[in-house]
Amino acid sequence: MHHFTYRNAQFYAEDVPLADLAAAYGTPTYVYSAATLRRHYDVLDEALAGAAHTICFAVKANSNLAVLQLLAQRGAGFDIVSAGELQRVILAGGDPGKVVFSGVGKRDDEIALALRHSILALHVESEGELLRIEHVAAQLGVRAPVSLRVNPQVDPKTHKYIATGLATSKFGVDMRSAPALYRRAAASPHLRVVGIGSHIGSQILELQPMIEAVAKVLDLVHRLRAEGIPLHHLDIGGGIGIPYRDEDTVTPADFGQAITALVAPHGLHLITEPGRVIAGNAGILLTRVIGTKQNGNRNFIIVDAAMNDLLRPALYGAWHGIVPVQQQDRPEHVVDVVGPVCESGDFLAQDRLMPAVETGELLAVLAAGAYGFAMSSNYNSRPRACELLVDGASVHEARRREDSSDLCKGEALRPV
Ligand code: LLP
Repeated sequence: MHHFTYRNAQFYAEDVPLADLAAAYGTPTYVYSAATLRRHYDVLDEALAGAAHTICFAVKANSNLAVLQLLAQRGAGFDIVSAGELQRVILAGGDPGKVVFSGVGKRDDEIALALRHSILALHVESEGELLRIEHVAAQLGVRAPVSLRVNPQVDPKTHKYIATGLATSKFGVDMRSAPALYRRAAASPHLRVVGIGSHIGSQILELQPMIEAVAKVLDLVHRLRAEGIPLHHLDIGGGIGIPYRDEDTVTPADFGQAITALVAPHGLHLITEPGRVIAGNAGILLTRVIGTKQNGNRNFIIVDAAMNDLLRPALYGAWHGIVPVQQQDRPEHVVDVVGPVCESGDFLAQDRLMPAVETGELLAVLAAGAYGFAMSSNYNSRPRACELLVDGASVHEARRREDSSDLCKGEALRPV
């Protein structure tokens, strides 16, 4: 459910025609819907009502300050993977006490920053990391709240680049090594064991792997508690998939019911780290057609958004819907929608049946609110897009479009 709809054949973000946004702010532009973000957060929150819980939005999915601010105001916590993400959460008014820090490679300065801000938990991914956290905590004279991220070795049945709970993944601690690490942590004056967690992947379309992972982690919880290791929270990670095309996916309601039924009886505080399911359908990428061309038997629509703006199609072969902002009856053709970047991998859609489009018209790339702008770059020296947050009829410029001065920021010529 989202708030991007046609009214009188014009595509709108909530109450604002996208054509007006393109006229005022140019293209390419990411447009987010505040009502959609709120709704997605609330639906998940209600679905988890059966257990005490915290929703820690995965900042990597969409790290725009105004988006984080909106979610913080809703009561969200945050899942971060870097000091930069923690700084964003703080700038956005988020509560560091509701922040969990994941990731396989936390630097000492990042650990120190997290400890100075008294975050909820550091998710430990290896023995070496546990020892480094202990060392940094000792230097700061604090007790670091730690939670092991275990690897339950469950196949989430998703794209191999975003499956993280397999035996071959770099993520998490082997379930068999976990008890020894917990004992080590529990015995340390500089560590405080607060929980346990896992995250098996992203864009997961079935409930079963999630249930299997939680069941395996709960097994471990029993064993640890029997040893007297207290665990306060269980973090089940993120990963709920969204329908990019017409996929059947896990609904927040089914997810919530199944997971809370498993977790609540154990008296554990439930943490979840959703990114895509909150932000994905809450954003579109608005782009303008630069021109069309034919090469042999292929038809190309060249638009002003490229792989540097939205990397998902190039990197994962991801499918995003693309619709004209002005609807009209016209013949359909099979086309490739491509950007100006000098790589054949630079496409937003391939072999796509689309209505014939004209030079200068606007298109909307759908479900681009998660891992869209957040993965964008300046490749080909292209300024990064503008980001707008629409709320009803109001428009907030959440990030101004970069200009040429941003492109060379921090660079220096050698003295001549
Ligand atoms: N927690 C952890 C530890 C994660 O690594 C991730 C995502 C999440 C939570 C949030 O997962 P979500 O609920 O959004 O599925 N760039 C890729 C997705 C990468 C996901 C990385 N980790 C894409 O565009 O599909």
